[in-house]
Amino acid sequence: MERKKRIGVLTAGGDCPGLNAAIRAVAKAAFFEERAEVMGIKDGFDGLIHDRTKKLEWEDVSGILTLGGTILGTNNRADPFAYGEEKKDVSQKALDTFHKLELDALVCIGGDGTFAVGHKLQQSGIPVVGIPKTIDNDLEQTDYTIGFDSAVAVATDSVDKIHTTAESHHRVMIVEVMGRYVGWLALHAGVAGGADVILIPEIPFEMNKVCEELKKRSKLGKRFSIMVVAEGVRLGKDLVIKREVKDSAEPIRLGGVSYRLAEQIEQLTGLETRVTVLGHVQRGGTPTPFDRVLATQFGKKAVDLIVAEEFGRMVSLQGTKITSVPIQSAIAKQKRVTPDLALVQSARAVGTCFGD
Ligand code: F6P
Repeated sequence: MERKKRIGVLTAGGDCPGLNAAIRAVAKAAFFEERAEVMGIKDGFDGLIHDRTKKLEWEDVSGILTLGGTILGTNNRADPFAYGEEKKDVSQKALDTFHKLELDALVCIGGDGTFAVGHKLQQSGIPVVGIPKTIDNDLEQTDYTIGFDSAVAVATDSVDKIHTTAESHHRVMIVEVMGRYVGWLALHAGVAGGADVILIPEIPFEMNKVCEELKKRSKLGKRFSIMVVAEGVRLGKDLVIKREVKDSAEPIRLGGVSYRLAEQIEQLTGLETRVTVLGHVQRGGTPTPFDRVLATQFGKKAVDLIVAEEFGRMVSLQGTKITSVPIQSAIAKQKRVTPDLALVQSARAVGTCFGD
């Protein structure tokens, strides 16, 4: 009798809502018609390197659909090909664990950093399937990643709440959102929250144009303004860095550009300005229905790929179709907002200023 397939699953990189929904979908789709057994690998690639795993049973993945975070834990530092501060190649340890567990395939739920490692593991002989997640939505070859819609919902809710206090105090309110080097989150939350000004890395802005817009609103009797700013916008040529991180694939953490913007706005316009940096709250809470549906479809598709022995692929959403693409095509470059994007045009049409 043929041995039942055995799948390893891990979550790596920054967490986001919808990871548990994806783990649940992989496991339940594997258990369905007894297609495969599933081993959960703890804390991303760190668990694979150090053999920290747990066989997932039905009870482990039952009741986690709506749960934020990841029951497996995650890690955005453990690159088996460049491990720790010395950037040591410990990939053999990861391969050893894979073979010791007698796995047939590894499902990596992650973003670009995770897939860069996944692609190398695939080249080293581990059959890999990727499931895209990131609140930044910056992966090529998929319209959406798990977690993005939930982060947009959190950010939009915050913008809605900021509106009332902005209006009461007649202030300029800046809401700074995450997104790393791209503006998807700021654009979507800004449009959904009716922001007057949206600043994103892909559309360089001029400070005097932003200030003109704020003063114009003031003159028109609009005594408050809402700005949604992506953490990755540049002040001139400069990125504003919160801190440097040594042993990480991502050597800098962004954040805080809005404080610098607020100072300049107050100086140039005289308008009282306040800043709210949303931070990790955007990665918390229960996933939106969209993310639950996406994660369920991605998880099932990942298992289908494994059963069909189609490896080195990332599941993807294209329009309404769930399909798959080669992993390296998803990480070849970052998916960025383009100025001619329909959503940018729609925002401009309803009067949103991008400061350009
Ligand atoms: O990539 C997801 C993300 O939340 C970015 O938007 C943000 O810049 C970064 O991770 C923060 O990383 P950390 O959780 O390591 O501080």
